[in-house]
Amino acid sequence: MTVDIESLLARMTWEQKLLQLQIVWRPSAAEREALIRRGIGSTFWPPSAGETNAAQRIAVEETELGIPLLVGLDVIHGQFTIFPTPLAQAAAFDPAVAELDARVSATEARSAGVNWTFSPMVDVTRDPRWGRVVEGFGEDPYLSSVLTVAKVAGYQGRALDTGDALAACLKHFVAYGAAEAGRDYNTTDVSDRRLRETYLETFRAGVEAGAATVMAAFNALNGIPMHANRALLTGVLKEEWGFDGVVVGDADGVAQLVNHGVVADERAAVVAAIDAGVDIVMGGSLLVDADGVAFVSPDELRVARVDDAVRRVLRLKERLGLFERPYVNASTASTSATERYRELARQAAERCTVLLTNDGALPLPQTGRVLLAGPYARSLDHLGTWVQHFASPVTESLADALATELPHVDWEVVDGCGFFDATDAAVAEAVERAAGADLVVLAVGEPSRISGEASSRADITLPDAQRRLIHALADAGARVVVVLATGRPLVVEDWIERVDATLCVWHLGSEAPAAIARTLSGRVSPGGRVPMTFPRAVGQVPIHYDHERTGRPPRTGGALLPETIAGFTGPNNTDDYYTSKFLDLPLGPRFDFGHGLAYTTFALDGFEMSRTVVSASEAEAGIDATVRVTNTGDRTGDDVVMLFVTDEVASVTQPVRRLRGFTRVTLQPGESVTVAFRIEADHLRFWADGQHRVLEPGDFTLTVSDCTTEHRLGVRLEEAA
Ligand code: BGC
Repeated sequence: MTVDIESLLARMTWEQKLLQLQIVWRPSAAEREALIRRGIGSTFWPPSAGETNAAQRIAVEETELGIPLLVGLDVIHGQFTIFPTPLAQAAAFDPAVAELDARVSATEARSAGVNWTFSPMVDVTRDPRWGRVVEGFGEDPYLSSVLTVAKVAGYQGRALDTGDALAACLKHFVAYGAAEAGRDYNTTDVSDRRLRETYLETFRAGVEAGAATVMAAFNALNGIPMHANRALLTGVLKEEWGFDGVVVGDADGVAQLVNHGVVADERAAVVAAIDAGVDIVMGGSLLVDADGVAFVSPDELRVARVDDAVRRVLRLKERLGLFERPYVNASTASTSATERYRELARQAAERCTVLLTNDGALPLPQTGRVLLAGPYARSLDHLGTWVQHFASPVTESLADALATELPHVDWEVVDGCGFFDATDAAVAEAVERAAGADLVVLAVGEPSRISGEASSRADITLPDAQRRLIHALADAGARVVVVLATGRPLVVEDWIERVDATLCVWHLGSEAPAAIARTLSGRVSPGGRVPMTFPRAVGQVPIHYDHERTGRPPRTGGALLPETIAGFTGPNNTDDYYTSKFLDLPLGPRFDFGHGLAYTTFALDGFEMSRTVVSASEAEAGIDATVRVTNTGDRTGDDVVMLFVTDEVASVTQPVRRLRGFTRVTLQPGESVTVAFRIEADHLRFWADGQHRVLEPGDFTLTVSDCTTEHRLGVRLEEAA
C-alpha cells in the first residue's frame, strides 16, 4: 500500500495538519498517549519496542486519519552499544569508524522502534570552551564533511524502509559552533564568506548525501535567530540546495524566539518559524490544545506553507515505510549490547586514541611493577555525553582491563585523587606507592558530564585536583604515562612536558577500558590524530589551523615570555615585535590539528603530481598526486597522510592551508605503500563572498604531511585561453 499524500492532505483539517507539525519534548507516558490519541504526528521514543508498538497502534488504528508516528531520539553515538564520542571518531581520520557507529546505532535503534535520530551534529567548532565540541567532528570543514557523509550513509543505510535504517538529522543549522566565547546557546556573528566556506559546508555535504532531516540551531546568526531565519532555512537549504526533507526546530527553540526579542509572544514565534521554513516544532506550547483549539489560525499562517510542511512530514513517513509497516517485532528487538557489537565498538575505539607525546615510555613493559593511579583507574565513566539510561553500561574498569591485558605486570592501584577533589593523604599515598614502582600509569580527565550540551567551560585545564596529583608525582621523579580522557581539547601546558607519555583517549564508549589497555600494551598501535587544535592557553581560542593569513605574520618565532617581560623597557625586537602573536606565549598551539604519534616511525617521500601546470578544464578533470609512505620502525603502525592546498594569491585572503584529502594506512615494519590523492577543481575554489564560489588562476601549493614530515609541490592554474 503506498499512500496518496495529496488526497490524505486534502482530507486533513487545519488542526490535523498542525498536529503533524509538532513533537512534544519528552512528555510523560500519560501525556504522550493523550497527544497521540489527538493525532500528534511525532513522539520521542517510548523506551521499548513494545511501548512504541502500542503508541503506533493508537496512531494507526485509533485516530481518524491513521497516520503513523515519527519516533525520534537522540541516538548520538549508540543506542545500546556505545561507540566513541563523535569527536573521538573524528580523531580516527577514518570515515569507516563513523559509518560503522551509525550502522550499528541504526540497526539497534530501529529494531526497537526508533525511526528518526537527531544526529549527526555537524557543527564545525573552533572553540574548545564550547561543551558541544564533543558531539561534532572538530574544526575542519573538509574532515567534518567527509564524516557527515559517512554518518548519513550509516544511519540511512540502503533505504529508509529496510527495517534497519534511521532518518538522519543534520544539526544544528547553522553556525551554532561559532557561539561567542564558546558559551552554549550564545550569539554568533559570521561573515557570509566564512559561513559558506566553513559552517554551511558540512550541511551542504550532508544534504547532497541525502540526509532526511535538518534541525534548526538555537543561536542567532548575524542578528537573525536561526528558528526565524528564512534566508537560510528556506533560501539556502530548501531552495538553493533543493532540500525536500523535514526541518525540525530544536527543543523549545521556536518559543525561545521570544527570549531572542524578535517576536513579542509565542504565537508570533510559531508564525515566524513556520514561515521561515521550520516544518516540525519541538516543544513549546501545544499547537492544538486538549480541547482541539489551534494555537494559530489560517489567517495568521500561510496555508500553502503549512501544506508544504505537512507534505514533507508525510513524505518522510512514507520513505520510512511507516504506512506499510508501522510496527516492529518486539520479540526480536534489541534491548542491550550484544557481544558482536561490543567487539565492533572496541575495534572502533582502538582507532580513535591519539598518542600526544611519548619519550619511549609507551608501549608499557610486559613485566615489572606498575602503579595505576588517578580517577579513571577505577571509574566506569567512559561512555561520554549523550548516552541514555538504557545504554549498556561499561562493566570493567581500566584497572580490570589492564590486569587482564598485562597479566605478568605486578599492578598496584590507587586513586590518588577524585575527579575534583584531592586530599593531602591520598596524594601522599600515591607518591609513596609510586616510589616502589617502575612506572606510573595516571588515568585522568574530564568526567563525561563536563562536556556536551550546556557544559561550556571558561577554564579548559584538567580539574585542579588532578593536576596536583600529576605535579606531585613528577616532583617525586616518577616516570609517568598519562591516559587523558576528555570531551574537548584541553590546555595541558603546565604538565605535558613533565610526564613521559600522554595518550589521549577521549570518551571511547562501552569498550573503552579494553581498547585503552590493548593500546597501552602495544597490542594495538595508536593511530588517531587530533581533529581540533589543542591550544597552549585559553586566551588563544578560537583557534584553528586553517586561519587566514595576516598582514603581520610573526617571523622569528617565540614570544616575549614572562621573564623577558619583567625586564622589558620597550620594543626591542625590531624583526618580530609588531607582529601577530601573544606577548606571553610561544608561537602556535600546543598540538596542531592532525597531530598524533605512533609506536613506530614513518618516512614520506616521492611526492609527485601528474601535472604541475593545468588549465581550468584539466583541473575539472582532476590532478593526481602520489606520495610513498614507509614504516621505518620495528613495530606495525598506522600513519595518516594529509593533503593540504594553499592558494598563494587570491582576490580574497585565504587560509594558510586547507585540508583537501587524507588517508590512514596500516604498515608492517619496513613496508611501503603509495598513497594517491585526486585534487579536483572544487578543492581549489573558494567563496569570494556569500554568493559566488570562484576558481581563480594562479599558483597553488600542495603540501602532504603526516604531521612529522611534510613535502610541498607547486601547481599553476593557467588563465582561460
Ligand atoms: C539539543 C538537540 C537535541 C534536542 C532533543 C536539544 O537541547 O540541542 O541537539 O537533539 O535537545 O533532545
